[in-house]
Amino acid sequence: MQSIVILISGGGSNMAALVRAAQQEDWASRYRAHITAVISNRADAAGLQWAQAQGIATKVISHTDFSDRTQFDNALAQAIAAHALQTTPPLVLLAGFMRILTPDFVQAHAGRLINIHPSLLPAFTGLHTHQRAIAAGCRFAGATVHRVTQVLDEGAILEQSVVPVLPGDDAKTLAARVLATEHLIYPRAVRRLLSAGLS
Ligand code: GRF
Repeated sequence: MQSIVILISGGGSNMAALVRAAQQEDWASRYRAHITAVISNRADAAGLQWAQAQGIATKVISHTDFSDRTQFDNALAQAIAAHALQTTPPLVLLAGFMRILTPDFVQAHAGRLINIHPSLLPAFTGLHTHQRAIAAGCRFAGATVHRVTQVLDEGAILEQSVVPVLPGDDAKTLAARVLATEHLIYPRAVRRLLSAGLS
């Protein structure tokens, strides 16, 4: 059985979309994959309560409890490993997880670390993507599911969605339009990975 651990920092709507897809499409029997835990670096992440209500194990590892990124990442890696089923290392899905991971962490999870970013990568890596897309006069925006490498928001693209930027859009209206598509492409990307078999 392949375990899946989802990392969040906030609302967790992408996490919820992944959990719903796993339930509705029965990933357990179809792909022998099971979402075993949702881990947040923030205790107030709204997604934690939702995950608990679904019967999923949750854990908070607050980055503020650690003096540097390496110690935080080590604690995170331990918590992830603790939610592995059998000996297969978990697939780790970053879903609105707002921490930059150390090269060692990325290396240790190579091939099993996926992120969703709210822009059409390689455009607009980093923060404030919607505001920057509007300011640049983009006619289209979107989201990208990609593998995580040691370079922020780089790594092989697995799925993308495109939405129009409409006259009168602000960062909030554009973010909402993009987010609705994130909920489609993240489960789609994971489904593809699971059906192809993880390397
Ligand atoms: C999403 O737009 C995600 O791409 C970005 O932060 C937002 C998180 O939303 N990194 P949620 O927590 O999944 O609702």
